[in-house]
Amino acid sequence: AAMQGDVLAKERRDLRQQEAQDKAAKEAAKTDLGQEWNDPMVAPGERRFASDLRQPKDAGPRAAIEMPEWKKIATGRGELGKKTVLSIKEQRESLPAFRMRKQFLDAVRQYQLMVVVGDTGSGKTTQLTQYLAEDGFANAGIIGCTQPRRVAAMSVAARVADEVGCRVGEEVGYTIRFEDKTSNSTRIKYMTDGIMQREILLDPELSRYSVIMLDEAHERTIATDVLFGLLKKTLKRRPDLKIIITSATLDAEKFSTYFLECPILSIPGRTFPVEIMYSREPESDYLDAALTTVMQIHLTEPPGDILLFLTGKEEIDTSCEILFERMKALGPSVPELMILPIYGALPSEIASRIFEPAPDGTRKVVIATNIAETSITIDGIYFVVDPGFVKQTAYDAKLGMDRLQVTPISQAQAKQRAGRAGRTGPGKCFRLYTEAAFQSEMLPTTIPEIQRQNLANTILMLKAMGVNDLINFDFMDPPPTNTMLTALEELYALSALDEEGLLTRLGRRMADFPMEPALAKSLIMSIDLGCSDEMLSIVAMISAVQTVFHRPKDKQQQADQKKAKFHDPAGDHLTLLNVYQGWKRAGATDPWCFENFIQPKSMRRAEDVRKQLVQILERHKLRILSCGRDTTRVRQALCSGFFRNSARKDPTEGYKTLVEGTPVYLHPSSALFGKAAEHVIYHSLVETTREYMHNVTAIEPKWLVEAAPTFFKVAGKEGGLSKRKRAERIQPLHNRFAGEDDWRLSAQRK
Ligand code: CDP
Ligand code: MG
Repeated sequence: AAMQGDVLAKERRDLRQQEAQDKAAKEAAKTDLGQEWNDPMVAPGERRFASDLRQPKDAGPRAAIEMPEWKKIATGRGELGKKTVLSIKEQRESLPAFRMRKQFLDAVRQYQLMVVVGDTGSGKTTQLTQYLAEDGFANAGIIGCTQPRRVAAMSVAARVADEVGCRVGEEVGYTIRFEDKTSNSTRIKYMTDGIMQREILLDPELSRYSVIMLDEAHERTIATDVLFGLLKKTLKRRPDLKIIITSATLDAEKFSTYFLECPILSIPGRTFPVEIMYSREPESDYLDAALTTVMQIHLTEPPGDILLFLTGKEEIDTSCEILFERMKALGPSVPELMILPIYGALPSEIASRIFEPAPDGTRKVVIATNIAETSITIDGIYFVVDPGFVKQTAYDAKLGMDRLQVTPISQAQAKQRAGRAGRTGPGKCFRLYTEAAFQSEMLPTTIPEIQRQNLANTILMLKAMGVNDLINFDFMDPPPTNTMLTALEELYALSALDEEGLLTRLGRRMADFPMEPALAKSLIMSIDLGCSDEMLSIVAMISAVQTVFHRPKDKQQQADQKKAKFHDPAGDHLTLLNVYQGWKRAGATDPWCFENFIQPKSMRRAEDVRKQLVQILERHKLRILSCGRDTTRVRQALCSGFFRNSARKDPTEGYKTLVEGTPVYLHPSSALFGKAAEHVIYHSLVETTREYMHNVTAIEPKWLVEAAPTFFKVAGKEGGLSKRKRAERIQPLHNRFAGEDDWRLSAQRK
């Protein structure tokens, strides 16, 4: 008891000390850092522009730039330039969350529901779970923490395991789709919000958990939004379950209102002012402007790392190469620049390098997708370069499917990005757009995913949980009625719902597979068609990785030749099957992969996914049958799910989709490229220079009618066309749920 008394006394003392420190910090902030960093209302004459930093193109890379003397500036910066190595304990205790530890734990004990807000990097994700575990909350169940992004779940679990002193998968683990790194000893589990959504489908009470932290709630992913509504129900049945919603932004009030006016705990920030600079004129090429800005910062600004926001993998990889070349061209006289990419598909070993500090005299530039906006915090960033774009999925009515599109960010995102420069010291943010664009072209906040994406997946899951009344489901921001109707119609065409909108047996079964409904349907239909063995391999290859083919820049031709050997005359799905079967036959070895320009890691991952799918089939007593060489059935099974994604060869060039008549194209890398396939189905569309179909397979049009009789009809039935001709002239039926008039009517009634 005496011991405990001492500890408490120390805690009280520490708290008082911190209070004093906080007060001093606040005072200091008022005096030196008085001006609001995100307030662009600086007197016009004093305003500086991002574009002014860049030199005219013809001035040559080093003209007119006085090279800074690196070392001198490093000391000139004093405290900030110095890199000190803190122990894990010191690091943990230096985080803003630590000062709120006691208040946080008290509040969790007192309330069932709570919202926690705090700047990015204050320790919400990595610390709160540990505080709970240290305080005994993990004794009666697991502490679960959801993340909108897979990479975040993995990297955060690795970090926390490090801090706790265990390996990932022991006390601290993570689960993402098709990858479970947890064990019986796991007490803190990070997972994607999609995984939690699946778990709540199987166990609505979430009986394994004692606390659930819905992290990054401000991201407003569909899965998180749906979990909001579902957890609200779970709470009533589980009075002992604690729920914590965390957010990096000031949506806290809205969350609190929705969650029954629950208390809000706010972690006081510790941010420095950030000077914002805009472009004078709109940029015609934001990528070029971004890279030039990065180079100029490196050459003219004092030490401090750079964070550049770009939209996706290709853009980031290309930029890394260009920067590397530009640095090489400058020779050894300039300080070194460490160029590090980070995006969702990056292998975790590379990803962890971005957290390591750059060696002295070297500057680090991290080129990231918006994953670095809030999900991941990199210390030591003084400069942010923000071109103002993000790649996000949005429903494209013309194509009838979700598509990744590059769109302008919102003002809230722009502020969040700028804030990343002010975590370690006063920073600078270079906005590669004009102030006018910021004010008038950017939305104040981002539209939640649930209001802009296809909901088929979500609705299937809700139906499987017995939620039939979607209109009255407790959404924080309900999706538009027509988005819901489109999804219902899609599920009806897939025979997952019946005419009343109720779940069919097939639909229930589809919900058991963690993949898009069309793929789940193809897999289930392959059982009846006697080709589930083959379909399992194809689905695994598609779901596991973006591509299994390795195409190094210096050996493209060689790689393409090897790939062509796997090409199946019927298309890409069967080509993937050929690769998988070839790999298995050769004993699944790495040398075979190197020889054939296949990525061994991707193959192992596909094999792992396949095993998990086999388990699901076995659990449901579904048969695994092989069709041998009769792969026509595989194509028919694919049609049963992907009939919507069908296209017909256009007499002039490319293809036209059957549903909307939109022009789409075969990519030169497709097995069907240069072949004369009249009708095809594709897995998805990828837009680069034009709309390319990804994973394409040749089909016979009559399979479409067989696969979806409610969706397609044979045109000109009454006419005198031959049966064959008729079968070829199919067209989509008028949409029975989402007919224009219908939804307008229901929208009016609402
Ligand atoms: O969740 P929140 O944004 O409030 O902060 P956090 O992710 O818990 O990060 C707290 C600290 O841990 C930051 O200083 C990060 O840089 C650090 N961290 C890290 O070093 N490595 C990771 N994989 C994750 C976080
Ligand atoms: Mg976080």
